[in-house]
Amino acid sequence: MNTPKIVAVTGVSSGIGAALCKWFLAKGHKVEGYGRTRNPELDEHENFEFSEVDFSSIDTVTPIRLDATKPLDMLLLSAGSFGRASFSLEQMDYNDFVETFVVNVAAPLAMFQRHLPRLRA
Ligand SMILES: NC(=O)c1ccc[n+]([C@@H]2O[C@H](COP(=O)([O-])OP(=O)(O)OC[C@H]3O[C@@H](n4cnc5c(N)ncnc54)[C@H](OP(=O)(O)O)[C@@H]3O)[C@@H](O)[C@H]2O)c1
Repeated sequence: MNTPKIVAVTGVSSGIGAALCKWFLAKGHKVEGYGRTRNPELDEHENFEFSEVDFSSIDTVTPIRLDATKPLDMLLLSAGSFGRASFSLEQMDYNDFVETFVVNVAAPLAMFQRHLPRLRA
């Protein structure tokens, strides 16, 4: 292993985010996980740190304050959702569409903006 990296991952409870966390931890790197649901397997790892955040409300993301002097090597925005509603335009629910847009677009942008100073540090 080369020098341990610090990696931030969103959506760590399942799927791509969980797999990314396991891969980086297995390689000896430190992982900061973000999401609304914990992953018990990752929680057991000494190099894993979890922060709870629900990406469906931008108001829960924008108050996040990070130590800009703490370097970050990589930010992996893997949290995402298809939403609850139908894909049919005729049946699509407006509120669900907006919530899904926040999870998939606005929240990742906000997370990126908040972590940018750390990625540059
Ligand atoms: N897997 C694929 O082949 C594939 C292909 C193309 C695109 N994608 C897209 O890539 C993204 C990740 O895919 P995946 O397979 O890893 O999906 P997944 O297994 O459903 O995982 C999604 C992750 O995002 C989290 N998440 C969803 N809504 C959230 C919210 N409001 N706040 C915080 N966390 C939230 C989930 O947490 P909870 O457990 O709390 O729900 C979960 O940890 C999805 O957007 C998916 O549509 C996946």
